[in-house]
Amino acid sequence: MILEVQGIDTFYGETQALYGVSLSVAKGEVLALLGANGAGKTTTIRSILGLTRPRRGTIRFNAADITRAPTHEIARAGICWVPDDRRLCPTLTVAKNLRIAIKKTPFRAWTINETFSIFSPLEYLMHREAENLSGGEMQMVSIARALLGSPGLVLFDEPSQGLAPKIVSDVLATVRRLKQEGIASVVVEQNAEIALSVADRAVVLDRGTVAWSGDATTLRDDDTLRQRLLGV
Ligand SMILES: Nc1ncnc2c1ncn2[C@@H]1O[C@H](COP(=O)(O)OP(=O)(O)O)[C@@H](O)[C@H]1O
Ligand SMILES: [Mg+2]
Repeated sequence: MILEVQGIDTFYGETQALYGVSLSVAKGEVLALLGANGAGKTTTIRSILGLTRPRRGTIRFNAADITRAPTHEIARAGICWVPDDRRLCPTLTVAKNLRIAIKKTPFRAWTINETFSIFSPLEYLMHREAENLSGGEMQMVSIARALLGSPGLVLFDEPSQGLAPKIVSDVLATVRRLKQEGIASVVVEQNAEIALSVADRAVVLDRGTVAWSGDATTLRDDDTLRQRLLGV
């Protein structure tokens, strides 16, 4: 397993958001992390990244214990993030937003030209300030930034939210491309259908606990189970 999260409890102040959450992702595997609004999906990602530190439990990545590692070290270990708000530096150009994302890790480095081969519009947006991009264009830059961080694991938080179907299919194609290269992904989605269309396995969170985990095909094919867990 490239990522192993074991029994994490995460709090915001005195409010507990995660209760003993465990999940694992193998090299090159795609995990769908599903659940209703407020279930704890983003908190799980923030815990893995060291942004909201779990009080109990352990997180291991690529054979190292990262539970208490600072966020910049976790990034240098090869975990990259596509945040739900696609945060870019608004007054910087796309080129600059991409350049500052370049990092060396134990995993393969991507070039800016390679990101153009995934999202061709990026090449023509290079001199645009990030604040003047559409939502879809911001998402392309945000994903390209994650690739330039040389990931062994990419955490996508609600990557399809508010995007046109064409961009959503480009995002899913990127997840498949990463998989071909042996790079693992966690795809957080409220839209279960989208995440299950690319996932190997799925974890369903409910009020901060793991309600179900198993093969994505099981959840895709079993309408009764999906209805009970996700209401869709
Ligand atoms: N910054 C925060 N401060 C306090 N509580 C928070 C904060 N962020 C999230 N929460 C709470 O933690 C729980 C899980 O939230 P979150 O992980 O964002 O859920 P999801 O991403 O699945 O919608 C919710 O009850 C939410 O209200
Ligand atoms: Mg969230």
